[in-house]
Amino acid sequence: MDEPTIVRTSTAELYDAHVLKNYARAPLTLVRGRGAQVWDDQGRAYLDFTSGVAVNALGHCHPHWVAAVQRQAGELIHASNLFRNPNQGELARRLVGRAGPGRVFFCNSGAEANEALIKLARLHGVRKTGVEGQCFKILCAQHAFHGRTFGGMSATPQEKVQKGFRPLLPGFEFGELNDLASFAARIDAGTAAIFIETIQGEGGIHVCTPEFLAGLRKLCDRHDLLLMIDEVQCGIGRTGNFFAFEQAGIRVDAIGMAKGLGGGFPIGAVWIGERSADLFHPGTHGTTFGGTPLACAAALAVLDVIEKEGLLAHVSRESIPWIAALGRLAQDFPDSVLGVRGRGFLVGVQMAGDAGICVAELRERGLLAAVAAGGVVRLLPPLNATAAELARSVEIFRSALSARA
Ligand SMILES: Cc1ncc(COP(=O)(O)O)c(C=O)c1O
Repeated sequence: MDEPTIVRTSTAELYDAHVLKNYARAPLTLVRGRGAQVWDDQGRAYLDFTSGVAVNALGHCHPHWVAAVQRQAGELIHASNLFRNPNQGELARRLVGRAGPGRVFFCNSGAEANEALIKLARLHGVRKTGVEGQCFKILCAQHAFHGRTFGGMSATPQEKVQKGFRPLLPGFEFGELNDLASFAARIDAGTAAIFIETIQGEGGIHVCTPEFLAGLRKLCDRHDLLLMIDEVQCGIGRTGNFFAFEQAGIRVDAIGMAKGLGGGFPIGAVWIGERSADLFHPGTHGTTFGGTPLACAAALAVLDVIEKEGLLAHVSRESIPWIAALGRLAQDFPDSVLGVRGRGFLVGVQMAGDAGICVAELRERGLLAAVAAGGVVRLLPPLNATAAELARSVEIFRSALSARA
């Protein structure tokens, strides 16, 4: 009998031949992770401060998370929203406990969470005017990023995101972040909502001031608009608060979340405050994979670990010396680093030149970081990164900058 022909093809070759070329990927194949470390297929270790772009909140393969997912995978993975499952009910209860009285819808990604928010704004407009198509405008911010679906793209005023896909969804206008007047000036009878990230992630780590958020709340109250917050990247403990907007002490009407919620398992969620939660009724929205027993088990494990390991306090405490140490890079290498901004474990280093080159230099030295718009190197450690790992990231950054001089 003929032996089967085994063709050994490298992962790079497989990608080259068969995977859609819609990402600019680093030349790196990752095969294993533990905590804040990942290993490539050559056995080389890296400190992973991308955390899968703010997804791996507990780092890689946290034992409590792994056990919870393994246990649930052996019991019930998916049953659809034709039925209840205990994990979805419990996760909704825990998120309501964090966000306030209201209800939760589960989906699978950040863009999908934001689509539900955009639909919510439209339903609110119908409630306000009694008719469809008159009140549906949503005010967003310049430099925002809300996802790649048509709704998400339409709310994302970035040429590189929108180019080639027009016409987009109508009804989006854009104010300047932290400039209340520029939002106030765009409100009219057709406006239904304000939709904003507390900290813009992809757009370059731009932080809303507490005064700006409080001002948006007042504008929404005055004009009966929903204040909808995109916490897809900055939420679930990343800033040291469970939701980043909590720092402003404001009440919001709806929250979109995803990324860190599942700790690596895809899940998105929308919390809607009690005044508007009933705008959705059977038949108005849904998604096949939303809130499966397995996805919710993963998210419950993330919430357990955040609570049991005191990760909110950990992020608040450890981020202060870390951000200060990164700030010293701007003093010591003023030709390369213009400044550092962000909060908690969502930090951007503003480079004078190309951030992509810097990210490659860091990678060569064993630190994985991400690029954000406007020449920013984005650092997103897992929420349980140790003081030693944070210090190591600064050392590697310093050595990369020193090697340039
Ligand atoms: C603030 C924000 N909203 C929405 C999204 C889209 O999320 P997803 O890629 O899960 O669709 C992202 C992704 O980076 C994001 O950062």
